[in-house]
Amino acid sequence: MIAVCGKGGVGKTSISAAMVRILIRDRTKKVLAIDADPAVGLASALGIDAKKTVDDIRNSLIQRLEQGEAGDRQTVVSRLDYELFEALIERENLAFLAIGRPEKEGCYCQVNHILKDIIATVAGHFDYVVIDGEAGIEQVNRRVMEKVSHLVLVADSSAKALRVVQTIQHVAHQVINYRKSGLVINRCQSGGELEDIVIPQTLQYLGFVPEDDVIRICDIEGRSILDLPECAALDAVENCLLTLMD
Ligand SMILES: Nc1ncnc2c1ncn2[C@@H]1O[C@H](COP(=O)(O)OP(=O)(O)OP(=O)(O)O)[C@@H](O)[C@H]1O
Ligand SMILES: [Mg+2]
Repeated sequence: MIAVCGKGGVGKTSISAAMVRILIRDRTKKVLAIDADPAVGLASALGIDAKKTVDDIRNSLIQRLEQGEAGDRQTVVSRLDYELFEALIERENLAFLAIGRPEKEGCYCQVNHILKDIIATVAGHFDYVVIDGEAGIEQVNRRVMEKVSHLVLVADSSAKALRVVQTIQHVAHQVINYRKSGLVINRCQSGGELEDIVIPQTLQYLGFVPEDDVIRICDIEGRSILDLPECAALDAVENCLLTLMD
């Protein structure tokens, strides 16, 4: 289970979508893409129209609970299970799930726990899970992140983006029992730019992804990363992924 994190706008969604594209190439593997950003950017990057989110399901359950119509725990669990599988959008060996808006504050721990378990069960049906995280560090505390095994920290060449990924790794270290994390420097303009970057020793460097017009124009035209021609950025993401899984 791979989670892609980093400061706002550094390319998390593009890199997540590129990883999904690379992983679904092997038709024998089932891949689940989870859009954990409330703005559902990954859906558009994959050309998917996200309808129902996990939070929609959660909110309607809370409403039923408040109206005393939810039934016993077993009924709640099986209905949530059913609704979550229904919310999955499937395209051949790719499935997609959107988390939706961040959780409401309040005493809904029971609901959150049940959902967390069900998401873990759903994820267990797949060979790979790629999570496009929302910007910042709050994400690592959220329910989808608990089972993450690989953390991809994305930064551009700015010192600020590098500081953000260091903080994310630090927080993640405390709350997630992940196996490996690694840094991807995205949107490198030239080889020379990399020489000026001091990569913190606490981060394992996976590689860089060049600034690539194919990716930039894809976003401008609202096209799916799955439909793009092969390009330098996609090759670079594949190399980073290989290093990560090594
Ligand atoms: N390697 C690249 N080459 C060219 N453009 C890129 C590259 N990576 C990302 N972009 C562009 O940068 C912009 C931001 O990328 P993206 O949406 O993937 O970032 P993000 O980290 O998911 O942002 P947010 O924090 O808002 O979710 C997009 O317009 C995208 O097309
Ligand atoms: Mg994004």
